[in-house]
Amino acid sequence: MQTMKPITSEKKLENTGASKIPPLEGGGAKRLDGIGEYYFSQKLREIDELNKAGKQVINLGIGSPDLPPHPAVIKKLHEEALKPNQHAYQNYKGSPVLRTAIANWYQKWYGVQLDADSEILPLIGSKEGIMHICMTYFEEGIAVLVPNPGYPTYASAIKISGATPLFYDLKKENNYYPDFEQLEDLIHENPALHLKAIFVNYPQMPTGQLPSKELFEQLVAFAKRHHILLVHDNPYSFILNDNPMSLLSVEGAKDVAIELNSLSKSHNMAGWRVGMMLAAKDKINEVLRFKSNMDSGMFLPVQLAAAKALELGKDWHDEVNKVYRARREKVFELLALLDCEFDTTQAGMFVWAAIPGKYSDGFELSDEVLHSANVFITPGGIFGSAGNGFVRVSLCSTEQKIEEATGRIKQSITTSQHV
Ligand SMILES: Cc1ncc(COP(=O)(O)O)c(C=O)c1O
Repeated sequence: MQTMKPITSEKKLENTGASKIPPLEGGGAKRLDGIGEYYFSQKLREIDELNKAGKQVINLGIGSPDLPPHPAVIKKLHEEALKPNQHAYQNYKGSPVLRTAIANWYQKWYGVQLDADSEILPLIGSKEGIMHICMTYFEEGIAVLVPNPGYPTYASAIKISGATPLFYDLKKENNYYPDFEQLEDLIHENPALHLKAIFVNYPQMPTGQLPSKELFEQLVAFAKRHHILLVHDNPYSFILNDNPMSLLSVEGAKDVAIELNSLSKSHNMAGWRVGMMLAAKDKINEVLRFKSNMDSGMFLPVQLAAAKALELGKDWHDEVNKVYRARREKVFELLALLDCEFDTTQAGMFVWAAIPGKYSDGFELSDEVLHSANVFITPGGIFGSAGNGFVRVSLCSTEQKIEEATGRIKQSITTSQHV
């Protein structure tokens, strides 16, 4: 019998004719026009190059929790994954165990009553929910109000859906709250577009601004007045904040609002990809029409372990916040060394700071710190033009790393003064 020889990779190409295929005409679809590679994905490549050259950059950029989830959560995942019958496709609407845990969590922490069966949709992270909402409700000719500065995914997802983001400014002098007069102006300046939604996010990323009940009430009233959807992205309410708030706690909010939430930051589970959408039944069903065509429900052991995480008490959050609080003090020292100005009462896992006047923008300061001290901090301009005069420092590194970064910056300042 003749033995079969493995085909070399060169041979494989020849056989499939892959080398003869011309490049794809036109590249990507039109909907990706104007959608760049995510800033961090580019920057991480640059940092990688510096590391290969032996620089050992300390990255204080990305907000991915470095602390683990509670051990009971990991144990639950392990136990459930060991069972032979937990590996099938899952219900598109998520496990009833997780939906019930979410309903209890919303009642306990936010004082919001939700029907576990019809008003909750588990998600693969809040980021996934943003895209689903955009694909469900938006298309060409639609305008959506988006915060500047704000999470870049809002505008990208809106553009991918074919709609147009209209950026509203969040200014320090207005507590980083929307200026409702500017919102009205934006609507009137764009008569050819049909306004369909506004995105808001409090505690706000990147500014760390907390919401007030009055702000949430004003937003609900604004959305009702304009007959638009109010999307509140709420993944930071447990970080450095003793008073988590849901926009759905405003009376009548469910008539217009969808809230997104997540276990990424509150439970140190960013890589698990567990989030949730909370809204009235009709909106859950509308988004489910799109989502059920995109995925097939999360791995059940992940859902059951997430339900376990949602049962964690105040002790857990206090413990996590103790760590972030100590790190934040160190970040304040680092930023003071750079002559930046910041508010010490910010929530969330970053510190947002205004840069000193000698820099033209946060990019210049960030690049200087990267190349002179091998420390990466995020330029505020990546969150929109209103962030140009700022930088953002993440709290997702140990106190020791932050101290080391401060030491390097101190050293680079001393060296430059002696040149
Ligand atoms: C404002 C905001 N919303 C949503 C997300 C994404 O969260 P998730 O991990 O739940 O997708 C992030 C993550 O950085 C964020 O900063």
